[in-house]
Amino acid sequence: MESTSSVPHLAFLAGAWQETERTFPVRNPATGKIIVQVADCGPKEAKQAADAVASSFENWKNRTAYERAEILYHWYQLMLAHEESLAHLMAVEMGKPIREARAEVRYAAGFVSWYAEEAKRISGEMVPSQFANKRLLVIKQPVGPVFAITPWNFPAAMITRKAAPALAAGCTIVIKPAEQAPLSALALAQLWEEAGGPAGTLQVLPAENPVPLSEIFFQDERIRKITFTGSTIVGQQLFAQAAETLKRVSLELGGHAPFLIFEDADLANAVQEVIACKFRNAGQTCVCTNRIYVQERLKEAFLEQLTQAVQQLRVGDPLQEETQIGPLVDEQGLKKVQAHMADALEKGAHLATGGHVRESLYFEPTVLFDVQPGMRLLKEETFGPVAPVLTFRNEADAIRLANSTPYGLAAYLWTRDIGRAFRVAEALEYGIVGVNDGLPSTPQAPFGGIKHSGIGREGGKWGIEEYLEIKYLSLALP
Ligand code: SIN
Repeated sequence: MESTSSVPHLAFLAGAWQETERTFPVRNPATGKIIVQVADCGPKEAKQAADAVASSFENWKNRTAYERAEILYHWYQLMLAHEESLAHLMAVEMGKPIREARAEVRYAAGFVSWYAEEAKRISGEMVPSQFANKRLLVIKQPVGPVFAITPWNFPAAMITRKAAPALAAGCTIVIKPAEQAPLSALALAQLWEEAGGPAGTLQVLPAENPVPLSEIFFQDERIRKITFTGSTIVGQQLFAQAAETLKRVSLELGGHAPFLIFEDADLANAVQEVIACKFRNAGQTCVCTNRIYVQERLKEAFLEQLTQAVQQLRVGDPLQEETQIGPLVDEQGLKKVQAHMADALEKGAHLATGGHVRESLYFEPTVLFDVQPGMRLLKEETFGPVAPVLTFRNEADAIRLANSTPYGLAAYLWTRDIGRAFRVAEALEYGIVGVNDGLPSTPQAPFGGIKHSGIGREGGKWGIEEYLEIKYLSLALP
């Protein structure tokens, strides 16, 4: 077991740090060693948390927006002050290279500062009436207590992207962090407490098996909102479950991002941005490109330049400053990458570079060409450092290929033609389009997808609306 002295490992429940009957191990994917045994919450803890999130809501919603904003702003400052320790924790619990982990802490804190400001801009409207004695008002109020299920790939930012708008709106929230990486969520809860967050407003319940715990929240009528980031298949199940008590739902699900490079593109820049887009977090993001389409004439030059750039990526210990590619999160993740590779090679794809396990959970950054329709990696998210390169003939062909998926989260296009940039961006059936930009995510912009990529938006002024109800007041004057 690695050093655990400062690692948070208890559940943060009803304003207190609580032990549970059972624990489960959190492992460092780079070493395979157990970092710490973490509280394993079940239905008993869930019931306690549901009571606390419901009772704290009554007070929190009545705090002024300025009071809520002040606590959020303090939380933001504490995150920045603890950037290094939060980044370190993230790197050891899920293998994110340390420089990326620091950037994620700042990204995570960015949601908190943004929503500290947005709390003060929740305003209503007055609508003209056709009757002289009537005044029609529309106000916004918090949805109610929230249950959030968050993923391991952004263990800090996916907490704040949900919790910050919820808390700013006046909601209270229980978070079930991913079983692979619950430590960042617990560390953020420590900072929320230190910032003056009242008991029960934000709770973190780690659980090895999320199902029995989650069922309590889904059945509870007092929980008015479910927010989930994860796979499409689980999102569909949760959507059905939430229907029983008609909860509001936000789902940020899988993606299968195309990256279109037109022949008028700045090729060197496109290569650089493919690297940033595809290989960050070792390819384990929902917005990493999964299909790189290059206009036919550019294929050879692009493949050569991409292969050279990928061969320079430094694979290694996430805690080393120079590391760019860390391990995959777990055995299951590695098996999926290997299965996609085996399927592609068997069906005729060729390796330009990479393609193998280096050691334990480390998979080499890989470029594949001669990729054909029907291969698994063109249909499912690989969630690993594998870049499949394909070609297209013309603009119409590119759009058709890009849209030929049930997913609709992020897409990217490279061109210097402004007319084409707009035509293609408007035709792409995706929630996010990066035009000559491989990293469009930022706290003030809307993040989310269409089709099988989910429902709702996180980030920006749109993100807080997911936690607000509209109430109409019709006032007849005496
Ligand atoms: C995700 O993979 O779900 C989040 C990626 C991002 O925020 O850029």
